[in-house]
Amino acid sequence: MGGVMFILMLCLTAGAMSGVRGEDPYLFFTWNVTYGTISPLGVPQQGILINGQFPGPNINSTTNNNIVINIHNNLHEPFLLTWSGIQHRKNSWQDGVLGTMCPIQPGTNYTYHFQVKDQIGSYIYYPTTAMHRAAGAFGGLRVNSRLLIPVPYADPEEDYTVLIGDWYTKGHSTLRKFLDSGRSIGRPDGVLINGKSAKGDGKDKPLFTMRAGKTYKYRICNVGLKNSLNFRIQGHAMKLVEMEGSHTVQNTYQSLDVHVGQCFSVLVTADQKPKDYYVVASTRFTKSVLSGKSIIRYIGGKGPASPEIPEAPIGWAWSLNQFRTFRWNLTASAARPNPQGSYHYGAINITRTIKLVNSASKVDGKIRYAVNGISHIDPPTPLKLAEYYGVANKVFKYDTIPDDPPARGAPKVTSAPIVLNMTFRNFIEIIFENHEKSIQSWHLDGYSFFAVAIEPGRWTPKRRMNYNLLDAVSRHTVQVFPNSWAAILLTIDNAGMWNIRSEIAERRYLGQQLYASVLSPARSLRDEYNIPDNALLCGIIKNLPKPPPYVI
Ligand SMILES: *[C@@H]1O[C@H](CO)[C@@H](O)[C@H](O)[C@H]1NC(C)=O
Ligand SMILES: *[C@@H]1O[C@H](CO)[C@@H](O)[C@H](O)[C@H]1NC(C)=O
Ligand SMILES: *[C@@H]1O[C@H](CO)[C@@H](O)[C@H](O)[C@H]1NC(C)=O
Ligand SMILES: *[C@@H]1O[C@H](CO)[C@@H](O)[C@H](O)[C@H]1NC(C)=O
Ligand SMILES: *[C@@H]1O[C@H](CO)[C@@H](O)[C@H](O)[C@H]1NC(C)=O
Ligand SMILES: *[C@@H]1O[C@H](CO)[C@@H](O)[C@H](O)[C@H]1NC(C)=O
Repeated sequence: MGGVMFILMLCLTAGAMSGVRGEDPYLFFTWNVTYGTISPLGVPQQGILINGQFPGPNINSTTNNNIVINIHNNLHEPFLLTWSGIQHRKNSWQDGVLGTMCPIQPGTNYTYHFQVKDQIGSYIYYPTTAMHRAAGAFGGLRVNSRLLIPVPYADPEEDYTVLIGDWYTKGHSTLRKFLDSGRSIGRPDGVLINGKSAKGDGKDKPLFTMRAGKTYKYRICNVGLKNSLNFRIQGHAMKLVEMEGSHTVQNTYQSLDVHVGQCFSVLVTADQKPKDYYVVASTRFTKSVLSGKSIIRYIGGKGPASPEIPEAPIGWAWSLNQFRTFRWNLTASAARPNPQGSYHYGAINITRTIKLVNSASKVDGKIRYAVNGISHIDPPTPLKLAEYYGVANKVFKYDTIPDDPPARGAPKVTSAPIVLNMTFRNFIEIIFENHEKSIQSWHLDGYSFFAVAIEPGRWTPKRRMNYNLLDAVSRHTVQVFPNSWAAILLTIDNAGMWNIRSEIAERRYLGQQLYASVLSPARSLRDEYNIPDNALLCGIIKNLPKPPPYVI
């Protein structure tokens, strides 16, 4: 009897502590993170490679797969990767941000274990440490539907990952020095597509190939540092099928605005004259437009791509209108075999409204970016570890910022860790209000949310009348146009410590981010996994005894 109990307990803790469920397939990876010289814009610079690759390898997984990645950090600085949009149910331990994990020290390795539970779709991973994202180490992460689950379109001939992003030739160390000395990183030098930019001299190799008459899937993600990009393919329309993990209503677009951190999947049919075509990504809302190109070649086709590049839209009203056309396909299955719309989010009462206003200001002559008047700093002890070890009061204060900041903004920006105390299972509303002249892109870890509205002006409770309470897309990143607001709705049902961040890299680096602490009152393994056995320890908890694990 005692023996059986003991074995049962072992199984429970082994499975739960690592955040991995035994019954689902495992994918194992070993990644070696190193410096290497890259010249994506013709200028040699220091890049960050994974197994020698820039961008990093694509992860191809299927719903519920367990992913085990042993990461060897051969940089001379601490390093972490986040899996943006992967929800890590009960498992913020693996989220790869400095609020939940100690970074991987140079010359050491750490093995991430996580499950892509109940998700499908197109995601990215990228470094969250020290502006490393400006040097590479980002890549695509796709989660395919299980074979039994119907997908609302036919299998494409091929499935391509298209990572688009603005690019700086100065290198991440220089960019970081700019930020540390209180300057902006300024404007990028170009736009890359999968780490390259075609020259257009007729000698470019194609990045993608298509066979006439066939339909292809392109997963387009903006991995850049600050610019929204317009994406288009010469002569070809794109049918939108998925956005950050949700099947969408399949509208057709000539071009798509992809804001930093966002991902779209489109279907493209090779229905044009068989020759080469340009794929273009160009900066939006900038005085001078920068573009990156690459080539799609029809197999057996003849002829170069036309030098006439399709025009990008102008102005942000176009972009707002495009946002309004995005709808969830309520009758399609999600990761489980039931319609996505069976969950009627529009009928749930909101229990808390949090308004987050971004601002930029100078503190002692240096730029800091803030949320509701406070600029976040990452303490040496990760917030989640401080909370778990019972020493949160030594590291941060809960509810650091008000839910409803004064309209005029804080007179003086201060720096502190920002942590919101969230009530488990509450259904909440977050309003992102942008009073600035530049575009924002807000991301939430651990969840997907309903992006119910984006509108110009200031938010008031009356604006709720304009929410899409029926078929807003459930996603993880939402843009906020200049002098506008965006509203999202979500259920706080994933226990953990979750990062809410501006995807604009310099803003996040200089404090425009915060954390939501979600504790289950039950303190039970049903709601949250224990700290993994191999968790890295740092800061004031390093030598503290490990708290007793949750057992049921
Ligand atoms: C990683 O790459 C570096 C440089 O190529 C090499 O020295 C090191 O042995 C590699 N480490 C692993 C674990 O493969
Ligand atoms: C990705 O995984 C799926 C499912 O296992 C498989 O059918 C497909 O061929 C894989 N794609 C690539 C590019 O490896
Ligand atoms: C580091 O890598 C080795 C294998 O190279 C592995 O046995 C070990 O578990 C890894 N350590 C961590 C903390 O993941
Ligand atoms: C939504 O998904 C259903 C079920 O797969 C599919 O039949 C339908 O065509 C899709 N609707 C739209 C508008 O994309
Ligand atoms: C929502 O709140 C209203 C007004 O307070 C109440 O009448 C209604 O029963 C609530 N609905 C749910 C689903 O709790
Ligand atoms: C956080 O909120 C919960 C209610 O949801 C409350 O019980 C708890 O005391 C709060 N914790 C702190 C540290 O404020």
